[in-house]
Amino acid sequence: MATHLHRPVSPTAPEAAQTSSGPTGADRATEVTVTKEVTETTDASAAAPRPAHAVRVEGLTRSFDGRPVIDDLRLDVRPGEFVALLGRSGCGKSTLLRILAGLDRDIEGTVLVPRRKAVAFQAPRLMPWKKVWRNVLLGLPGKPARAVADQALEEVGLGHRSDAWPKTLSGGEAQRASLARALVREPDLLLLDEPFGALDALTRIKAQRLVGELWQRRGCAVLLVTHDVEEAVLLADRVLVMDEGVIAHEQEIDLDRPRDIADPRFAEIRGQLLERLGVATAAEAA
Ligand SMILES: Nc1ncnc2c1ncn2[C@@H]1O[C@H](COP(=O)(O)OP(=O)(O)OP(=O)(O)O)[C@@H](O)[C@H]1O
Ligand SMILES: [Mg+2]
Repeated sequence: MATHLHRPVSPTAPEAAQTSSGPTGADRATEVTVTKEVTETTDASAAAPRPAHAVRVEGLTRSFDGRPVIDDLRLDVRPGEFVALLGRSGCGKSTLLRILAGLDRDIEGTVLVPRRKAVAFQAPRLMPWKKVWRNVLLGLPGKPARAVADQALEEVGLGHRSDAWPKTLSGGEAQRASLARALVREPDLLLLDEPFGALDALTRIKAQRLVGELWQRRGCAVLLVTHDVEEAVLLADRVLVMDEGVIAHEQEIDLDRPRDIADPRFAEIRGQLLERLGVATAAEAA
């Protein structure tokens, strides 16, 4: 797995990492401390050992107007691990995800991520003037064959809508098209920012199942930002709670899969996490 080192693009750092996705947004020099072993960041040949981390973040700080939203944050994600990220609104979850995606490099600190990464946001962000299959291939290098898109659309149960215009898709279908667009990148790291937030309850359950299946089939690391504690416990190997600019709490979820929300241990973990988030559980409120 090739790994990218993200740090600010600066005149004093000519070797600053390039990224496969999007604009950097960083055009000014920022002081940066890069302490990580560079061996881990170099391109891996087929024979090279798999890196120990899909994501490695150290001393990450991101400020807006002088106010640090992310403040000396540390985070590791193992290859193939499913991590869910919770935290109150405005605590910096999307900011962290954008940095990992390479969409924001106005940072201090060290960010190591795989070269192959993909991101899906709450809004599917499909181009209305391109048919679904063309949207799926959008931004891929070279001239990928339509079959590549069709295969990914099949994988998310949307093969029959390949030729459709985005405006004719339902919300759940559009979200699945967005997932297909992420999958064609064959990511080692899949970044999901509240991808089910706008879906109705039933569609949401189906989409959660789909993501769980895709993750198990593909074996990529996933970082899922969500507000839904139940969704986090249902899907993740590990749940993180972000607060005050850092990962303030983390919890391994050692429940067997598929998980059952009726399992008393499920309820116990959910309760603990809700408490961490400052939400009283029903038992406490009574
Ligand atoms: N481009 C920007 N310029 C100024 N402030 C920003 C910018 N982007 C984010 N912020 C601020 O940083 C903070 C964190 O925002 P972020 O979008 O990361 O929160 P979040 O945890 O994803 O919240 P939510 O759960 O509501 O999506 C917020 O106070 C937000 O206003
Ligand atoms: Mg957000």
